[in-house]
Amino acid sequence: MIAGILKERAGENRVILLPETVAELIKKKVEVWVESGSGKGAWSSDDLYEKAGAKIVTVEKILEGADLLLRISPPEPEWLPVIRGSQVWVGVLNPLGDKALVQQLIDYKLTTFSLDVIPRTSRAQAMDILSSQATAAGYRAVLDAAMHLPTFFPMFMTAAGTITPAKVMIIGAGVAGLQAIATSRKLGARVEAFDVRKAVKEEVESLGAKFIEVEGALDDKSAGGYAVEQSEEYQARQRQAVHDHAVKSDVIITTAQIPGKMAPKLLMKATVEQMKPGSVIVDLAASTGGNCELTMNGETIDHQGVRIIGQSFYPSTIAKDASKMFGKNALNFMTLIIAADGSLNLNFDDDLVVGTCVTRDGEIYNPRVKSLFS
Ligand code: NAI
Repeated sequence: MIAGILKERAGENRVILLPETVAELIKKKVEVWVESGSGKGAWSSDDLYEKAGAKIVTVEKILEGADLLLRISPPEPEWLPVIRGSQVWVGVLNPLGDKALVQQLIDYKLTTFSLDVIPRTSRAQAMDILSSQATAAGYRAVLDAAMHLPTFFPMFMTAAGTITPAKVMIIGAGVAGLQAIATSRKLGARVEAFDVRKAVKEEVESLGAKFIEVEGALDDKSAGGYAVEQSEEYQARQRQAVHDHAVKSDVIITTAQIPGKMAPKLLMKATVEQMKPGSVIVDLAASTGGNCELTMNGETIDHQGVRIIGQSFYPSTIAKDASKMFGKNALNFMTLIIAADGSLNLNFDDDLVVGTCVTRDGEIYNPRVKSLFS
């Protein structure tokens, strides 16, 4: 079988597999073709791919001759009529958010797998790109906040006086939030964190942060460890707690999300207007509407002296390691669909294969995506 790595869209610096991961794929008896320039944004030249055993080719050659088509970004619209149903697309298609694309994949009868919908079970942990990329985002968000903040993160006792540590509040202590806590603590900030899932209290505290408790959250065990939507009354109390802590914070990093839903609005305009001038909000949920009422996706704005950053591409700003983690996740997934002799083996008895498959033969496979169309 031949796997083809396609160059990403403009603005995406990551690449789906770094040369080191390509070498591992070749060991699995798969021939690898790489579109020239694919690794440039992640500091991986064509030369490095060739040294790893890959062939450098054109995009046309890959679309025509590769069996596995690999790319983080979705296919370009003009590729859709060209790709055949016997070829297998593996990437990130955001099928829960991009219904129009899913409809096209159905219409063109393409075989597609989207790593962002892989079931979150313990067997899938090593394939979970949402976790690995959220780690990159949580880390980078803190560094971005620190660079925008007009004050230091750590405490300093100097001959020029004492600098007090920055106060950081993290909203949502999932993968991105926990990494943001750890990074803020390493930089010496005083950190507090809030999450509707009380189960994360211990993890928050073990990282040296204070857990902000708001009693009465709905914690649905059947939601597989994810948050569920809360009652109006709880949300009002939560907004008050967030307000009380926000007005004392120098930095707020928001990461709250409920899978498949718009991000909950937790940080209101009135609260932002009472925050200290010079403070910084990084809204990691910007691409799903934002946790802050004022967030503009893809923009950094100033609202009455408070900087609000709505960056949705943090992993791309740390392209080399984000690609390394992404590639390892992708390779682990591909291991499920590659037979010992290097041929394609789509085993639809495997829950991870079915759960990650978006479309095949004009049908939707992933149950969550299917429910959007029923
Ligand atoms: P996750 O699902 O692991 O964590 C989200 C956390 O938010 C959970 O702990 C959940 O309990 C909590 N939460 C949900 N509703 C809440 C509420 N009302 N109040 C307080 N907490 C609440 O998600 P993960 O992987 O950490 O991702 C977090 C966010 O970061 C997502 O919105 C994701 O799309 C985004 N992200 C952004 C990137 C960027 O470059 N800006 C890159 C990667 C992820």
